[in-house]
Amino acid sequence: MKHRVAVLMGTRPEAIKLAPVIAALEADPRFEPLVINTGQHRELIDQVISLFGLRIERDLAVMQPNQSLASLTARLLSAIDETLVSLDPAMVLVQGDTTTVLAGALASFYRRVPVGHVEAGLRTGSLVSPFPEEGNRRLTTPLAALHFAPTTESRANLLREHVDPATVFVTGNTVIDALQHELRRQADPTVGERLRAQLREVGGEDLFSGPMVLVTGHRRENFGSGFEEICSALATLAGRFPETKFVYPVHLNPNVRDVVHQRLGALGNVRLLPPQPYSEFVALLGASRLVLTDSGGVQEEAPSLGKPVLVMRDTTERPEGVAAGTVRLVGPVAEAIVAGVSELLTDGAAYRRMSEAANPYGDGHAAPRIVEACAAFLGA
Ligand code: UD1
Ligand code: UDP
Repeated sequence: MKHRVAVLMGTRPEAIKLAPVIAALEADPRFEPLVINTGQHRELIDQVISLFGLRIERDLAVMQPNQSLASLTARLLSAIDETLVSLDPAMVLVQGDTTTVLAGALASFYRRVPVGHVEAGLRTGSLVSPFPEEGNRRLTTPLAALHFAPTTESRANLLREHVDPATVFVTGNTVIDALQHELRRQADPTVGERLRAQLREVGGEDLFSGPMVLVTGHRRENFGSGFEEICSALATLAGRFPETKFVYPVHLNPNVRDVVHQRLGALGNVRLLPPQPYSEFVALLGASRLVLTDSGGVQEEAPSLGKPVLVMRDTTERPEGVAAGTVRLVGPVAEAIVAGVSELLTDGAAYRRMSEAANPYGDGHAAPRIVEACAAFLGA
């Protein structure tokens, strides 16, 4: 009898990071993965689902425009509960720190279905940074039966919270599995050239001439004054470095999209793109000189490619990249962003110090480790 494992996802990064786990479960005769897309995101997750060809068992379609955290949580809890009753899985896997994760862990706990938490143990130490993700991940931990920590640091965070060490597995981060898979695909020059052609179509014929700074940003704690600072920094930088392209695939959240388009839409060397499919985004990362971001996943991917990352946040739950020397916090602060980017674009020695390729997040085999731990847990 195959063990039915429900894999719950709702947003873009969850789908990217769970795709390798789903593939490993599908390839294993002991398991039947049942992918539940909560639909916390729509376009952003659909891009990933179609790229990885994921078969979706249920789509709960909960997204509403500009959704509030409480109403989203309420819709998720009841929709996930109904789905658990109808699918009756042996266990549930959740990934990361989104509202889908917390609601999924809580709904599973109420139905007494054991939860495996992929990417467990990340902590900044500040409950409001990132908001609400630090709260989500801290609240998910006591509800989970298995904790898949990407690094020994994240394992240590869990043990400090008195999690039973026998339930914690250091697996590496599945984002490296996904990235390596995508890089192997793009090693074929025809694939790489096709992606660059597609990117020129959306970003301009001259997209790849001159240095490129890749920008992403979407954190709730940066809404308002944080995004004003970020936009003002980009406007200053675009004026100071006219030969450099600032390429910014803009998140669909209206709190981000509206201000970014209003403030930066008219600047010739700032290229505001729609959110890019994962393949195109990896191609942009590869072509960039450096990355300016508040994203979690991008902080994990860029070091593998030797791209310096300036993080527009006050804290990071990913200190491994900082320790490796490729990631630096600049905060959502215009002056610090301008100074950090200017230094990296003009000072070769400073650039070289941050551009050593480093990957503290695993060997690309996190997914099979997670599957083996689930098999042992379920007695498969
Ligand atoms: C969510 C996660 C965040 C994660 C991010 C990844 C929470 C609270 N936040 O933030 O942790 O880092 O996803 O991208 O779980 N929207 C669309 N189409 C989409 C996606 C979003 O239109 O495909 C718009 C909608 O108006 C939606 C809003 O963005 O209401 C916010 O979406 P939500 O998932 O609540 O938050 P994100 O900012 O995307
Ligand atoms: N990403 C993507 N297209 C984009 C921007 C990001 O595919 O236009 C990928 C990126 O490579 C990473 C993930 O999305 O794997 C990060 O998602 P996001 O920044 O939305 O969320 P976070 O990681 O901060 O939770």
